[in-house]
Amino acid sequence: MESKGRIFSGVKPTGKLHLGHYIGILLNWEKLQYEYDCIFSVVDLHALTDPVKVKDNLQENIYHVLAMFIACGIDPLKAHIMLQSENSDHAFLSWILQNYIGYGQVKRMTQFKDQYQKHNVTNGLFNYPILMAADILLYDCAYVPVGIDQKQHLELARDMVDRFNSIYGQQGFKSPSPLINKVGSKVKLLSDPSKKMSKSDNNEKGIIFLLDKKEDVISKISRAVTDGENKIKYDEANKPGVSNLMQIYSSIGEIEISEIEKKYENLSYQDFKKDLIDIVWNRLDKIQNKYYSIIDDKEYLNSVLDSGLEYSLFLSNKKVEEIKKIIGLKRLN
Ligand code: TRP
Repeated sequence: MESKGRIFSGVKPTGKLHLGHYIGILLNWEKLQYEYDCIFSVVDLHALTDPVKVKDNLQENIYHVLAMFIACGIDPLKAHIMLQSENSDHAFLSWILQNYIGYGQVKRMTQFKDQYQKHNVTNGLFNYPILMAADILLYDCAYVPVGIDQKQHLELARDMVDRFNSIYGQQGFKSPSPLINKVGSKVKLLSDPSKKMSKSDNNEKGIIFLLDKKEDVISKISRAVTDGENKIKYDEANKPGVSNLMQIYSSIGEIEISEIEKKYENLSYQDFKKDLIDIVWNRLDKIQNKYYSIIDDKEYLNSVLDSGLEYSLFLSNKKVEEIKKIIGLKRLN
């Protein structure tokens, strides 16, 4: 089958992956790999933007994320999996690209502003969206699957493309379109459904990690916040806890929300949670079996990275040469 275009996406190796990553990102990638020419990356250079989090176990986290890609269904024979730092073209292009976007425009990125208010930030964090643009523009990507929180970064990349192409009067870069995963951005903490499922201090009880044991899954789902109504109905505004659980059920169980409502019409939260535990655990059990069968096989994991790197260099070297030529950074023959 002919591919519908190229896709690039990445996950930062900053910690243990959880259900938010699975439903929001990996489940989606798994489907995309059959239709698009996919490059999926462990974006370790992006991880450096949080020096505190990555300090002790970056290397371990890189292999964790890589093995999880595969355990969650990414097939290295279909999709290309690469480690961002191994291809220096990413960092090189990001230096080039920062000159084709306004300082004020980068400063307006909400993700940066949020972090800036909370704690000391590095200049690397400020430049995060520029490196992300390089990831994408290096490969002439048609689409980028991202959560809604990354949409603004993608728009920045599109602005760079316009600016670059108009300055040089040539189509040096191709404008990528977002593929927004509607469900993904919606997975919430089980303990506080007003917040996104993502790791911050002391909220582990609300997160199902992909390597959680069965008893943890049982206890986390059993204790998930719901409401006093005991009615399985999707209503994000008034029933955020139940709606979040339904979203998880729907994504993994591959069943429409309306079907879930019908199925549990006369049943209790307890019945619903019991089934949800089965659905989630069955999936995690499969993922874990695969994960533990490969995580210690560094030879295999390295071979996956080798072939991903080879493919990515093949494309990126050509792009970098083309861009250098347009800018005038090349020697005369
Ligand atoms: N910024 C993305 C995130 O935090 C990760 C990422 C890095 C990415 N480079 C990318 C996603 C390129 C898509 C395309 O989720």
